[in-house]
Amino acid sequence: YARKPLAGKKVLITAGGTVERLDPVRYLTNDSSGKMGFALAAAARDFGAEVTVVAAKTTAKAPDGVSLVRVESADQMLQAVLSRFEGSDLVIKSAAVADYRPAMRAESKIKKSGDRIMLELVKTTDILQTLGEKKTSQYLIGFAAETGDLDRYAMDKLQRKRADLLVANDVSEEGAGFNADTNIIRVYDSGGLVEALPIMSKLDAARRVLLIASERMAQMEAG
Ligand code: PMT
Repeated sequence: YARKPLAGKKVLITAGGTVERLDPVRYLTNDSSGKMGFALAAAARDFGAEVTVVAAKTTAKAPDGVSLVRVESADQMLQAVLSRFEGSDLVIKSAAVADYRPAMRAESKIKKSGDRIMLELVKTTDILQTLGEKKTSQYLIGFAAETGDLDRYAMDKLQRKRADLLVANDVSEEGAGFNADTNIIRVYDSGGLVEALPIMSKLDAARRVLLIASERMAQMEAG
């Protein structure tokens, strides 16, 4: 990519689906492949940025030329992101983070017992919201995986989590969301819808998001 709209910028991206363990061999997770996060990482690298990816469980191949930090759970992702937040210029939360984790993690494999057993879940810390509360000069982009009513839920997440931009995808649509090579995204800022994009590769979608962000970051720097 000839133009380098993110030259000199430090970009932190999360990718994949978190893994919340019940015991040494069982866990709760989701269908995220890491493709969207890795596409953002590759695009940011091509735009001249120094890129760190904090990745939970992924099935896609990580891009070359970025620094990769592996984590498993939402809690580990929170720690990995928090320790790198201050030094970052742009942070993108494209990972699918568990909202709940098992209340207990058994030391050894849970034995088969009654016909019905209870699984108690507790809320995880919302990483994006934590960053939204802490942020000083960082530009913060959140994602929203929805199955309908995108505009309403996206704007609610943008405001509640204090993101600068929010990228929503309807994961029930063909060619969008989890595991697909393509995505159909809508980008929002505090004023509402910025761009509704047609179906395109995750790499092209990533470039569009990063172009919007880089323009806005440049405007902020110019005051
Ligand atoms: O990895 P792929 O297979 O390519 O799929 C891409 C994707 C569907 C995972 C991606 O495009 C996407 O939508 N990522 C966000 C998934 C998600 O967790 O959405 P959410 O609507 O539940 O969460 C909203 C935002 O809050 C997200 O930025 C999420 O990272 C963040 N969050 C959520 C919970 C939590 N405990 N901490 C968070 O930071």
